[in-house]
Amino acid sequence: MAGGSGSRLMPITAGTSKQLLPIYDKPMIFYPLSVLMLAGIRDVLIIAAPESMSAMRGLLGDGAHLGINITYAEQSEPRGIADAYIIGAGHVGNDRSALILGDNLFHGAGFQDLLREAREKADGCTLFGYPVADPERYAVADTDAHGNLIGIEEKPTRPASKNAITGLYFYDSDVVEMARGIHPSHRGELEITDVNRLYLEARSARLVQLGRGFTWLDAGTFRSLLDASQYVQVLMDRQGVRVACVEEIALRMGFIGAEQCHELGLAMGNSGYGRYVCDVAKSLA
Ligand code: G1P
Repeated sequence: MAGGSGSRLMPITAGTSKQLLPIYDKPMIFYPLSVLMLAGIRDVLIIAAPESMSAMRGLLGDGAHLGINITYAEQSEPRGIADAYIIGAGHVGNDRSALILGDNLFHGAGFQDLLREAREKADGCTLFGYPVADPERYAVADTDAHGNLIGIEEKPTRPASKNAITGLYFYDSDVVEMARGIHPSHRGELEITDVNRLYLEARSARLVQLGRGFTWLDAGTFRSLLDASQYVQVLMDRQGVRVACVEEIALRMGFIGAEQCHELGLAMGNSGYGRYVCDVAKSLA
């Protein structure tokens, strides 16, 4: 979901979409795209504002170079995150699906296993909780003594906990119907939290806890945009790894071969990113 107006990042977003802004060495949308790819999802719908559509298509095309299938749909007005399932109803059909927000960055050991488990669940929805210092900026989870989800509130003034609900959601095939059943909030938006609450009321919402050793960042404000860039840079300088390098992930997931990966790297050979893609391709050939 790469819609929205990016109003908290004006004037950076006056001439471009938020999800195309750089987080250190790559466009922001590479980060959520890499999560879907790590989950083994190869059929992706990108929802974006009309004015950023051609740049988005120019960046990712039909996804064939990454061994995935990318299609696009416009969100003409910022009508909220749950609008993704109204716009994307035809794309989703009767399948299960995952939704990820275009400004969310996830990174941590064992994440791929969590993604696989969430993807394999046949019923209900899977949400991911993460402890933050400023829960009032997010949807907040309330849990019982056993860690079961008992309540969710969007941007509460008095948060029930410090446990934010991240912008990654896995749903069964009922989600389109659920999204059609909610009404716009006081912000005039279709809130994904209202969809999640319907699942919760049906006793089919589960919360997977991301621990303190895990990193979840969003890049929707000046500060968080810089934090995210610095996080990615520190890992690269220390470990020599590039988080969310979609070409590397496509290769490691077996979506493309080493030769194709190497060609993608060569096409960007003048940048450190391009050389990294070439090196990864050579090491896995
Ligand atoms: C959105 C969701 C919120 C979620 C957050 C995660 O908030 O409405 O429930 O916790 O993303 O990034 P927004 O960033 O649109 O304010």
